[in-house]
Amino acid sequence: MFDAESVHHFVFSFFKFAHKFPGVPTLLRYYFVVKNDNLKKELFGLTFTNPIGLAAGFDKNAELIDELADLGFGFIEIGTLTPQPQPGNDLPRLFRLPEDNALINRMGFNNKGVKSAKERLLNRKSKVIIGGNIGKNKNTPNENAVDDYLICFEELFDVVDYFVVNVSSPNTPNLRELQEKEPLTNLLNAVQLANLKKKIPKPILLKIAPDLRDSQLDDIVEIVLSTKIAGLIATNTTINRSDLNTPENRLSAIGQGGLSGKPVADRSTEVIRYIHKKSNGKFPIIGVGGIANANDVKEKLAAGASLVQIYTSFIYEGPGVVAKICKELLKE
Ligand code: FNR
Repeated sequence: MFDAESVHHFVFSFFKFAHKFPGVPTLLRYYFVVKNDNLKKELFGLTFTNPIGLAAGFDKNAELIDELADLGFGFIEIGTLTPQPQPGNDLPRLFRLPEDNALINRMGFNNKGVKSAKERLLNRKSKVIIGGNIGKNKNTPNENAVDDYLICFEELFDVVDYFVVNVSSPNTPNLRELQEKEPLTNLLNAVQLANLKKKIPKPILLKIAPDLRDSQLDDIVEIVLSTKIAGLIATNTTINRSDLNTPENRLSAIGQGGLSGKPVADRSTEVIRYIHKKSNGKFPIIGVGGIANANDVKEKLAAGASLVQIYTSFIYEGPGVVAKICKELLKE
């Protein structure tokens, strides 16, 4: 009934407020954090308490880390962050498609800038694993994109556990052109070079779109291996609109944006399977797209993912979704 983004801001603020009351964090942890050694996963030299992370885009500015950690996420990816703060696209830019358990968004990397996120991460209490998802400002031309990614990388290096180079959002004009072989190789080599200069380098992952053709996926595999980055996140939202239950007139009224949730699940699994096979499992993949229950998690893991992330099902199912999935996973 209400504008989806207004609801997001309301829930966000309410949660932040409620979490300040004594006893609330303990209560949340009691209900939502499922601790069990069988859920643990070692990857990239990090120990994940469970395999379910929060995908990028929900807590872009790292404003809710302690609160979200108390909902049981095994890891939280902040961002996409850009060097300068930017407002993103005009509103409305987030839409619910309840008939499809899906969302369409064209947020356009709205964020408060990488520096402010760093400040907040320095003050967090929770030890949850944090991924830093980085991008470029809208007005930075692709020729200078590398500079933006490097600024974000350097700024966040001491406060995140892994990095994600995001070149797959459909909502920043021309961004996805950076997924092509030459610019992508240059970008990843530049970030990796900066990384290897550090005393202890951090895992760098690349987040890809579900809309890439097989030949582009072949290139991606080659690039991950040649640049020696740590792995992939598959996938971002899709621009595909086929086989939806939402009526055509509503879809055209919504307009452009990335589709997430159930309709992207199969394609995302297909991309994971294709890449895992093509690369002989030589690097880890974090699977994301349409995961809402333990079966969806298992499908992604069977296709070759090592960890998973969720976003849309968290919106539809609410704060108990991670605990629900973890308990289901432990049943078998
Ligand atoms: C996203 N997603 C996203 N991804 C990213 O790398 N950077 C971002 O800033 C955002 N922003 C964003 C906003 C909104 C409103 C949504 C719904 C999604 C994509 C997200 O991380 C994930 O890859 C997809 O949504 C697919 O997963 P789900 O939602 O089907 O679980």
